[in-house]
Amino acid sequence: MSDRRRAKLLPIDRWPTADEAALSRWFSPVQLGPVKALTRTWIPAMVPWRATDDGFVTDDVIEWYSRFAKGRPGVIVIEATGIRDVPSGPLLRAGHDRFVEGLAKLTRAVKQASRGETKLFVQLIDFLNIKRRPTRESFLGRFLTITPRLRSALGTSFATVPEADVRAHLLSLPDDAVLAVLDEREAEALRFGLRERVTDTHLPHIESLPRVLPALFADATKRCVAAGFDGIELHFAHAYTMASFLSARNTRSDGYGGDRTQRVRLPLEVFHAVRAAAAPSVAVGCRFLADEIIEHGSGVDDAAFFAVEFARAGMDFVSLSRGGKFEDAKQPRIGHAAYPYTGPSGHECMPTTNIAAPGPFGRNLGAVAMVKRALVDAKLETPVVACGGIASFQQAEAVLAEGAADVVASARQSLADPDWFEKVRQGRGDEVRRCLFTNYCEGLDQAHQAVTCQLWDRAKGHADDATVRRTKDGRRLTAPPAAP
Ligand SMILES: Cc1cc2nc3c(=O)[nH]c(=O)nc-3n(C[C@H](O)[C@H](O)[C@H](O)COP(=O)(O)O)c2cc1C
Ligand code: SF4
Repeated sequence: MSDRRRAKLLPIDRWPTADEAALSRWFSPVQLGPVKALTRTWIPAMVPWRATDDGFVTDDVIEWYSRFAKGRPGVIVIEATGIRDVPSGPLLRAGHDRFVEGLAKLTRAVKQASRGETKLFVQLIDFLNIKRRPTRESFLGRFLTITPRLRSALGTSFATVPEADVRAHLLSLPDDAVLAVLDEREAEALRFGLRERVTDTHLPHIESLPRVLPALFADATKRCVAAGFDGIELHFAHAYTMASFLSARNTRSDGYGGDRTQRVRLPLEVFHAVRAAAAPSVAVGCRFLADEIIEHGSGVDDAAFFAVEFARAGMDFVSLSRGGKFEDAKQPRIGHAAYPYTGPSGHECMPTTNIAAPGPFGRNLGAVAMVKRALVDAKLETPVVACGGIASFQQAEAVLAEGAADVVASARQSLADPDWFEKVRQGRGDEVRRCLFTNYCEGLDQAHQAVTCQLWDRAKGHADDATVRRTKDGRRLTAPPAAP
């Protein structure tokens, strides 16, 4: 590794001995409602792009999670899994009973690989429609609705001319002139692709979300419980439907938007429906944002308020992420959809070594500590899961010692080396394959390609080199085995 790259690694003075690890907080048990996790180590949801195009579990999905399970973390959260029975590409789905068999195979495999020690949760997600960025020709020539407002913006001579003439005129205009007559949403649809919002209540399927979502989440929960999951994590984070209800940008006027008490109403109704649908032995909690990091978005005060509401309602854990919004995402290329991890808030969600001071490590911890403090002040003991640039034993131990959180999660470090929890437990921390935090993996996620780690292919001579499954372009699909 080059000196420049080494200089950017998270500083680590020394790894613990096996005895120190055994006595540590991080490797001590934690009660998550009805579920006892054997350690406070946690692998948060990471979409690996390995499901079939119609959302079924594949052998590659099973291998991906079994490989994580060999490192025996306290909890693994399975990737964002769709609650609806609608096409959504190679992302797992739980929107119909036909998905239960594959999910059950997955839970059995993970339990076996961890020798029954890892608890397996699943993250349940709903998302709204988003279209790819259109060409100028297709947008102005076909998709754009020619409204009376647009005709009047073009001038009185366009009041009654046939639609085809309006489109031909728009196509003849320079870009600036087109943008000058489009309203904000039309201009966004041209520049980024059409994206629905929870505030689009003129659309019946958006207006009815508060009526349909609790049952959709509850039905998906029943299937996941039947498949053998130990816990349900409701995805209330990042750019998706439920996070948009929590957002300060949610101005719905039907009692589900506006002030915080109204914004948290649907998430609570979803939780109550899910709690009622889940067996009492199953933990139910959520992942949401400690800070949206967008202009006019929710901040840490909102997060503290939501955490207290969720805890009072009886959630078994709250897990905190950061950023990851559409509102500041970069303009996609034509034919591609906007991706919520390309702007500043996306960079906060999965920070790299290029992020501004204080750098990528533990960047979310200040906000997480404030949320935890609000819970403590309200005399609520609901465990809080911290995440974001945590990749060493010392960091995790310090978080727990300070009481900033109760569980410490690690996504990319666990991807780089799924055995790292096991190595640390055995006093073999020096052997950990350390994440570089440069987001090669996240780039693959963005391109909707099978997620792998750049480090897996760097070294050769592994016992499974001849047999390991690979992508078409030759990348290993699972991490190399740990040395004996
Ligand atoms: C490839 C990839 C896929 C991800 N998929 C999800 C997901 O499905 N749901 C989610 O809440 N977060 C997802 N995340 C975010 C991670 O759970 C985590 O919050 C983020 O990587 C920051 O933690 P880290 O610094 O430990 O990596 C994903 C991250 C990566 C790298
Ligand atoms: S590709 Fe590997 S090393 Fe790079 S950020 Fe992702 S997990 Fe870390």
